[in-house]
Amino acid sequence: MFYLRAFRSSSTVLLLLFLSFIAAPRSSASPAENSIPTQLPGRDALLVGTDWYPEQWPEARWETDLQMMEAAHLQVVRIAEFSWSRMEPAEGRFDFDWLDHAIRLAEKHHIMVVLGTPTAAPPAWLTQKYPETLRMEPTGQRVAHGNRAHGSVTSVRYREFCARIAAEMAKRYGHDKNVVGWQIDNEYGYAQISYDEESRRHFQDWLKAKYKTLDALNEHWTTSYWSQTYDNWSEIPIPVGENNPGLMLDWKRFVTDAWAAYQQGQIDAIRAVSDPHQFITGNLMGYDFDGIDHHVITRPLTFVSWDDYVGRGHLDPDTNGISHDAMRGLKHENFWVIETQPGFVNWSDLNNSLDKGEVRAMAWHDVGHGADEVGYWQWRSAYNGQEEIHGTLVGADGEPVPLLEEVAQTAKEFAAAQSAFGGTKVASEVALLNDYESRWAIDWQKHTSKYDQFAILKSYYHALHRRAQSIDIVSPYAPLEGYKLVVAPDLYLIPKDLAERLKAYVEAGGHLVIGPRSGLKDEFNALLHVRQPGYLAEPLGARVEQFYALENAIPVDGSLGTGEASMWAEQLKVTSADAEVLLKYGPSNGWLDGQPCVVSRHFGKGRITYIGAVLDDQLVAAAADWMVKNSDIEPAFGPVPDGVEVSRRTGEGKTVFVLINFKHERKEVALPHTMRSILDQRDVLQLELPQYGVAVLEDRAK
Ligand code: GLA
Repeated sequence: MFYLRAFRSSSTVLLLLFLSFIAAPRSSASPAENSIPTQLPGRDALLVGTDWYPEQWPEARWETDLQMMEAAHLQVVRIAEFSWSRMEPAEGRFDFDWLDHAIRLAEKHHIMVVLGTPTAAPPAWLTQKYPETLRMEPTGQRVAHGNRAHGSVTSVRYREFCARIAAEMAKRYGHDKNVVGWQIDNEYGYAQISYDEESRRHFQDWLKAKYKTLDALNEHWTTSYWSQTYDNWSEIPIPVGENNPGLMLDWKRFVTDAWAAYQQGQIDAIRAVSDPHQFITGNLMGYDFDGIDHHVITRPLTFVSWDDYVGRGHLDPDTNGISHDAMRGLKHENFWVIETQPGFVNWSDLNNSLDKGEVRAMAWHDVGHGADEVGYWQWRSAYNGQEEIHGTLVGADGEPVPLLEEVAQTAKEFAAAQSAFGGTKVASEVALLNDYESRWAIDWQKHTSKYDQFAILKSYYHALHRRAQSIDIVSPYAPLEGYKLVVAPDLYLIPKDLAERLKAYVEAGGHLVIGPRSGLKDEFNALLHVRQPGYLAEPLGARVEQFYALENAIPVDGSLGTGEASMWAEQLKVTSADAEVLLKYGPSNGWLDGQPCVVSRHFGKGRITYIGAVLDDQLVAAAADWMVKNSDIEPAFGPVPDGVEVSRRTGEGKTVFVLINFKHERKEVALPHTMRSILDQRDVLQLELPQYGVAVLEDRAK
């Protein structure tokens, strides 16, 4: 319990656990409140940018590139995040003249700079002289130089070098008026952490700080099982493959904390000498990437940025929307899409291009969900290098590729929409809960390989987004009181303190809906000593008698409708006379026949509902109808045709809707009343949207 409290409530306590191997001191400087440039009064609310690598090009070319960017209305470049060998060509010898020049030229062309610390690509002199700075694979082999993300974030020596280069950069640019902020490293967790002895020692120290005694650790991990008992901290391994679930969960927490400490070393180095108005962000990888707990890693950042790639295929508004809403939910704040796909990528199994118009639609989709900046990766690719055939805005000949025109149009539209979007954010009445620890724990013990947490989340997201038109995806430990409806599709770990929080939310009037597998485990990834949903069984007035992985879909029926459950079904038992059964199972494996599948009960001023199975899409839609109605949620825009997505941003007395048609057919949309269409400056009551058609509507009646 100590760990969870520390983990959830105070990054300071958490980081103290790392003092044994953090080299950099913590700084007392704190970022200015709300220092997102796009959120500052008088600054542009929406920006388009690109990722530019001047170190790859002759200086004589730079001005041409920047002129072209300016002509395309681009306002941001992120630079330097892979240029360590140029900035520090030999140990302790720094060369920033070239970067001074690049920053000044960008300024001349009215382009602001975000500086990336270059620590995702340490130079060869460093890794050769100090081989312990290279990551070790689980096989025991250190990675070779020549790729990126080869540094070991748990190496004390590596961290010292990282903090030093960050400090040198900050000394030079910490007060540069054209440097608006910093990105630390790139894509934390892109490569696995080092599996070397140094990591293992730090892990053991981390465990010692958490459990204090081996007796406590042995008890919480139930190490009497399979003779796992540890008599000495040094015996504890790094898990490779399957291991004790308690150990595996602590290892993942350690990995997160290691990245957090690595990040903090650089943040401290920068903050110590820089203007607090410069923001500090990180480049995350969306909802899907669960290598680290993003709620922890983003705490010290000014705001969240992430890199948004479709890869194979086309933009799916739900998949992309889930990532946006989860990235926004990390800090309840607008975010930047600091990298996005300029047509196509190079790393998918089929690197098809987005269709004409789709890149623009994607940028507006980003904005509708809370993005304030969209940055295209990359401006122009190096002549050689692993990513030389990735999409760009400029070809190898230095001339624009066809997509640049669409990006320039989008940037021009962003410029036209500045005043409508200034000070606006996304506000939601519905939250979906995202708990990385539950996600890891379920994936380690799936019970049926078909169990797909993302697909389940997406089915709820799809149904609820259509009905509520806005969803936040947040940690279960986030403040929930502002939401009318909170849905946790599969919250596996519900320790007592979390159960208390959720109970308080319901008592105060919220509607909590929890899905199958919820409340089976505690914070040590051990089985709770009570039946699912654990400490929430009492307010629910029902409990799970048994869970079943399903071979085939089975029928379900009740007041919500008729349909099927697949993959997973739980036999519920009502324990309180006032609990309502909303769905029951039909004939199936005998155990489930006629038994409750969905139970709901008023509790305090609110309601708690347990859905014990993975329901088909129609039933999820019916359940979503019921939830929304019961929770008094009205879509802010009103009904729109299938395939058209509506999102809303509000603030400073403004309401702006972004509508996008993702279907092939043209769609007609009737507005609830006349609104101002910003992109063509006219008042509209009716719209027609072709595929990838975008309407940005200012609702002046609100
Ligand atoms: C990631 C990285 C970039 C680049 C792109 C390519 O987002 O951060 O450096 O590799 O992918 O899609």
